[in-house]
Amino acid sequence: MFSFLQNSLDEIKSLGLYRENKTWDPLDATHVRDPEGKTCLVLASNNYLGLTHHPELINAAVQALQRWGTGSGSARLITGSHPLYETLERNLAAYKSAEEALTFNTGYMANVGIIGSLMTKGDLIFSDALNHASIIDGCRLSGAKIIVYPHCDTDALKKLLQDTPLEGGSSRKRLIVTDGVFSMDGDIAPLDRIVPLAQKYGAILMVDDAHATGVLGRGRGTAHHFGLADKVDIQMGTLSKALASEGAYVTGSSKLIGYLTNKARSFIFSTALSPATIAAANAAVSLLSKSDELVQQLGANAAFMREKLAEQGVKTPDSPTPIIPIIIGGNREAVEAAASLREEGIIVGAIRPPTVPAGQSRLRITVSAAHSREELAWTAERIGLVIRNEK
Ligand SMILES: Cc1ncc(COP(=O)(O)O)c(C=O)c1O
Repeated sequence: MFSFLQNSLDEIKSLGLYRENKTWDPLDATHVRDPEGKTCLVLASNNYLGLTHHPELINAAVQALQRWGTGSGSARLITGSHPLYETLERNLAAYKSAEEALTFNTGYMANVGIIGSLMTKGDLIFSDALNHASIIDGCRLSGAKIIVYPHCDTDALKKLLQDTPLEGGSSRKRLIVTDGVFSMDGDIAPLDRIVPLAQKYGAILMVDDAHATGVLGRGRGTAHHFGLADKVDIQMGTLSKALASEGAYVTGSSKLIGYLTNKARSFIFSTALSPATIAAANAAVSLLSKSDELVQQLGANAAFMREKLAEQGVKTPDSPTPIIPIIIGGNREAVEAAASLREEGIIVGAIRPPTVPAGQSRLRITVSAAHSREELAWTAERIGLVIRNEK
């Protein structure tokens, strides 16, 4: 009866796609100790600002833990919202220049809950081809018709909007949904071209700022980067990457937040985050509201890394973000390249299908504000050797 498990695992292995959890002991924001006791430099994490080890976040979490204990015990609508949520959501709304904010337990749950509750059978969703899996799953769950447009291709999006009539009366809706910064490519959605299309065709516009929060627009995300904060209806982002905690947020109008509070099943039917988690996220938002110094440092580090890779003859796409893909092609080759770097004490992601399209397996380098210039220059040099097959 369970032979399908082995068959499936054999197939995954034969394709060079097998994955397993590896235990790494974090030493600080950018270093881990591996199982053999070796200290490694990490360029695979989304800890973009290095805030996981910032004293203000740690203190906030410790104080919350001591005052309120470890867990929340129930869903927010059952036991009442923790007072820390009120502070966090008020601060998030102010930071993003939005009317209100709502917190979800993860980014995955936010996307599934937002899209799944807003859209329904008979509605149309226009979704970028490289959107994150959680957006794809939210679209599928909604039952709406999904129209995937080629990555960042606004001419194609316009044509699809023109050619796909909305049938079934005025209650039917269109949604355009896109990552703000694409998680595996590091490029930025062209919101300056998408916003006018959303307006022209009466579509709701949703942006996933998981990799733009704390990164673009002085930390405030992709819409701020383009000066279009008031033109994007739904801005979703995570608290787990640059903000160094866990969970996700959505910002928008008070009506939108009221609707999601009542309709988003992944919000309603899940136990609230722990007080320490909310406190850490809030400390991160407070810190970034006061100063964008770390965000600037991240941008400068990302530019430095791209420059150093170029000096090594390693091609990377032109983008200001800290996500730097180096396309290798084959699955095994990508894993081997990451393994060679690993021997040097450098951890980078080897990203394979289904996370990226077949034939586009890659090394995914993520730069942090906490990396030193020496570490970045050394890493670029080692990557150059591996890519040129000199190691
Ligand atoms: C673009 C994007 N959206 C959503 C998520 C999901 O967020 P979380 O890890 O908090 O579930 C991720 C990554 O994790 C992501 O990269």
